[in-house]
Amino acid sequence: MPRAMQRVVISGVGLYTPTESISNHELVESFNAWVEKYNRENADAIAAGELEAKGPSNVEFIEKASGINSRFVMDKAGIIDPDRMAPRLSPRSNDEPSVMCEIAVVAAKQAIEQAGITVDDIDAVLVAASNMERAYPAMAIEVQAALGIKGFAFDMNVACSSATFGIQQAHDMVVAGSARRVLMVNPEICTGHLNFRDRDSHFIFGDVATGVIVEAAEGCQSDNAFEILDTRLQTIFSNNIRNNFGFLNRATEEGIGQVDKLFVQEGRKVFREVCPAVAEQITTQLAEMNIAPDSLKRIWLHQANKNMNELIAKKILGREPSDEESPTILDEYANTSSAGSIIAFKKHNEDFEPGELGVLSSFGAGYSIGSIVLKRV
Ligand SMILES: CC(C)(COP(=O)(O)OP(=O)(O)OC[C@H]1O[C@@H](n2cnc3c(N)ncnc32)[C@H](O)[C@@H]1OP(=O)(O)O)[C@@H](O)C(=O)NCCC(=O)NCCS
Repeated sequence: MPRAMQRVVISGVGLYTPTESISNHELVESFNAWVEKYNRENADAIAAGELEAKGPSNVEFIEKASGINSRFVMDKAGIIDPDRMAPRLSPRSNDEPSVMCEIAVVAAKQAIEQAGITVDDIDAVLVAASNMERAYPAMAIEVQAALGIKGFAFDMNVACSSATFGIQQAHDMVVAGSARRVLMVNPEICTGHLNFRDRDSHFIFGDVATGVIVEAAEGCQSDNAFEILDTRLQTIFSNNIRNNFGFLNRATEEGIGQVDKLFVQEGRKVFREVCPAVAEQITTQLAEMNIAPDSLKRIWLHQANKNMNELIAKKILGREPSDEESPTILDEYANTSSAGSIIAFKKHNEDFEPGELGVLSSFGAGYSIGSIVLKRV
């Protein structure tokens, strides 16, 4: 697809990292304390075959299956308390900033500063994330107000691919002239939808916020801008990553509090189906752009699973990727949904020389796959 004449860049990136972090050891200790209590309290039913005993989690499994060592979180105490196993966030009145707004603003300010612009230069705000703190008003309008930005704002949710889909929307707005500059933020409080009592997934997610400024290349003040050469988005319906939480839950109250109102996945199927689809999308995109995969300096992949990323990068490059070619941040951050590939980009882009190329890619629930080819200006 030929690109419009207007050249568009990512001119700034920001990252908010929570101060608290949970190691695998701490998480497993809390999980196993809950398992022991559960099995003890239900000993009779388990012995009678009415209930299944819960199995313990272990650190070695988590590291081998995912590559995750720790995760940053908004509230450690609530999560590792075996009697709670969920973050505890203090209530806020309508006159106080909501939690998602607060962390989005930190990331946004960094992105604005790196772009060398002020809030007056921005016309649109997108909050692109897997979960929204409330139904309405849009989180994006609150972020817009907190920063003092004029223009318009709206929320969008494409699960783990929210950021790449958001970048394409921002790019297209700049090309169309509906906004001069767009702030796109990804406040991801993933511990809010994670079932910490599920052994298969309790280790998967962490919390974070990222932000990106998208604007026309002409007039860009940033000394670290990346031109958006191409964006590709793809969605394929799947139930393999699903969360049935929603506003109609109160109409079927027997489902309230059931595990399907939190994150649920068929991890193996996701692995098997998503990896080839992502590699295929990026390989086709590069071929159509006449870019040899070997000429890429870096691939900033979605950060869900280290084995998944190794497989995808290997399929794209046709050989083992080096850590420098496909950097990992999920070891420290875990899966932060849409923010993952943006964190990898933020932390691993300062060594680029003008003209060097990279691909930013996300994949996740939907399924949704986004890939963006970037060139250092
Ligand atoms: C989730 C994931 C890490 C699990 O790894 P896996 O190698 O597929 O492991 P499995 O779920 O098949 O489990 C293997 C075994 O370990 C057990 N196990 C699962 N969790 C465990 C834990 N925390 N501790 C110990 N054992 C565990 C399972 O019960 C299973 O036992 P079984 O063979 O007796 O049935 C992996 O499938 C994955 O990352 N998939 C993609 C996830 C993803 O990207 N999701 C996108 C979200 S946006």
